[in-house]
Amino acid sequence: MTLSIRENLSSSLSDIFPGASSLGPIRFFSAPGRVNIIGEHVDYAGGLVFPAAIDFRTNFAIRTNGLGTFRLYSLDFQSEFVTKDVIYSEEKPWANYILGVVSEARSLGLRVEGFDLAFTGNIPQGAGLSSSAAVEVGVAFALSKIFDWDITKEKIALLAQAAENHFVGVNCGIMDQFVIAVAKPSSCISLNTESLEYSYHSLDLPGYEFYLIDSNVKHSLKESEYNDRRKEVESATSKCNKLSPEVKTLSQADFFLIEKAGLTPSEFKRAVHILGERSRAQNVIRSLKDKNAKEVGEELFSCHESLSKNFQVSCEETDFIVEWFRSENVLGARMIGGGFGGCVLVLDKEGRSSYLFSKLEKEYSQKFGLNAKIYKFSISEGVREDS
Ligand code: GLA
Repeated sequence: MTLSIRENLSSSLSDIFPGASSLGPIRFFSAPGRVNIIGEHVDYAGGLVFPAAIDFRTNFAIRTNGLGTFRLYSLDFQSEFVTKDVIYSEEKPWANYILGVVSEARSLGLRVEGFDLAFTGNIPQGAGLSSSAAVEVGVAFALSKIFDWDITKEKIALLAQAAENHFVGVNCGIMDQFVIAVAKPSSCISLNTESLEYSYHSLDLPGYEFYLIDSNVKHSLKESEYNDRRKEVESATSKCNKLSPEVKTLSQADFFLIEKAGLTPSEFKRAVHILGERSRAQNVIRSLKDKNAKEVGEELFSCHESLSKNFQVSCEETDFIVEWFRSENVLGARMIGGGFGGCVLVLDKEGRSSYLFSKLEKEYSQKFGLNAKIYKFSISEGVREDS
């Protein structure tokens, strides 16, 4: 965390929240955003995902206040919220990511008393890079330190996911919170979202680079059809389970079963995506090990096609960006994250991104009246205390 971020955070706490007799020392924490290389919309279907943390972070300053009150300040929204009660706020939606963590922690019997918290960050919001999960995991980790919880990072991830599911109201899977909690620099994690077993893998393709294009179509998963997709996956799973009781998640099904299980046309398409994604994820992990960038790229294109046609979570703008890059002969491109807008991940030879982006930027803004953005990133560390 840079000195100026620390100073801004500390002075916000002291300027905005007046002293109390028993203020604790200020401690600093940060949590990253994430990309996902492959395994999209499978983390609530027991599938394999391959995400990594990126060097865009949300930074927090926190102290106990001895007041039994939560005094919260968002530097980016220049907005404060003070409450004794842990209730959902319609007016200050950003506060729910924090209060949701408090609510879940208390329901697990973990001690949470009054605290002051200020935060700021550079993870683009609504861009599919998990800015909200970064707040949840960052807050859960910070609370675990200031209130001395005995808890692992894996459990922090589950707590943060529960906050999103129960308090914020998005029925997300475990991928984002998990990678943000456990990530290491230079590594992706391969995570089995059913058993939560995971391992670290390098993302190293010499001569090639990954980068992100933000479509600038902002999505809120709460208002999108995200929760509906999850319901369809759940109903497809229970139909498959009726026919084959050993099949507990859709990722364990096969094509024969999904054809016989009496799925609706939509459920069937969702299932086709999930089964296809299982083999794409395995292929990508193997191809990365073999340093076969071409094969990785082909799987990215085919993942996008499936997200767009079978899972139906893309949109005109991200479809356009992916097709545009295909016509420029990049190795691969696909939408990432929840979808309905957000970012496209591109894999190409090193050195072409600026030229390609300036060309895309013009055509994109002529067609959609929107400003695309490019984000270069490196793979970063998960949640941490910044000394
Ligand atoms: C969002 C959710 C994740 C995951 C992705 C899609 O980022 O938070 O749990 O479902 O969408 O892969």
